[in-house]
Amino acid sequence: MSFENYIITPLSHNDLDDSLAFSDQWIGVNYFTRTELEDYLLMSVKGNTTVSYIARTQESKVVGLRLSLAPGLWVKKTKGLTPEKWGFHPSQVGYFKSLFLHKDHRLKGLGLHLSKLSIDSFKKIPTQAIICHSWKESPGNSSYKYLKKLGFKEIKEHPLYWSHLDYNCVRCKRPPCQCTAIEMLLPLEI
Ligand SMILES: CC(C)(COP(=O)(O)OP(=O)(O)OC[C@H]1O[C@@H](n2cnc3c(N)ncnc32)[C@H](O)[C@@H]1OP(=O)(O)O)[C@@H](O)C(=O)NCCC(=O)NCCS
Repeated sequence: MSFENYIITPLSHNDLDDSLAFSDQWIGVNYFTRTELEDYLLMSVKGNTTVSYIARTQESKVVGLRLSLAPGLWVKKTKGLTPEKWGFHPSQVGYFKSLFLHKDHRLKGLGLHLSKLSIDSFKKIPTQAIICHSWKESPGNSSYKYLKKLGFKEIKEHPLYWSHLDYNCVRCKRPPCQCTAIEMLLPLEI
């Protein structure tokens, strides 16, 4: 599959305003604040390597955001983790924070492509495994399916995972969000 119609780059500070507008539209209003996105960008970079990616059209419109966090600081800021089942020390594990695409750009392989770019960057750091929280109620079970396709395996279900957040989930429409997260792990061969 070719992605030459897209401009795909590692996420940078210049992308933050557009990323916030994009996440308000496709993840839910107030899911991320500008400050949180800045923090996540800092956690996306280790040395010269960035593990988050953004996809734009040739007209510079954002159509995809793969937010990933390098091994390290994210662990103590994240709930719903079961490291005793991972088989890797948490300090060596990266995190797939969020992947969202504009609805007109789904099912074209772009989500998998952005995730594979991120995995290649993780391997450079290096990283032993990646954890994520799959959104169980995602339309068409797409979240779980794309993660399975990448080789992620289930660790544990976490009901009401996002219910503490004061944001308008695109499925539940208003707080508290009723959705379930499935903690999933991908071991990386470095
Ligand atoms: C989930 C998402 C990021 C996947 O990206 P995408 O570019 O649409 O997916 P891809 O084209 O790369 O497809 C990857 C695989 O995911 C699965 N998939 C994706 N969307 C699907 C859908 N609507 N229904 C069923 N399966 C789907 C398929 O197995 C697909 O592989 P296949 O086409 O070879 O069968 C995107 O659909 C999206 O933004 N969905 C809404 C938000 C979301 O669920 N985000 C994940 C939160 S953890």
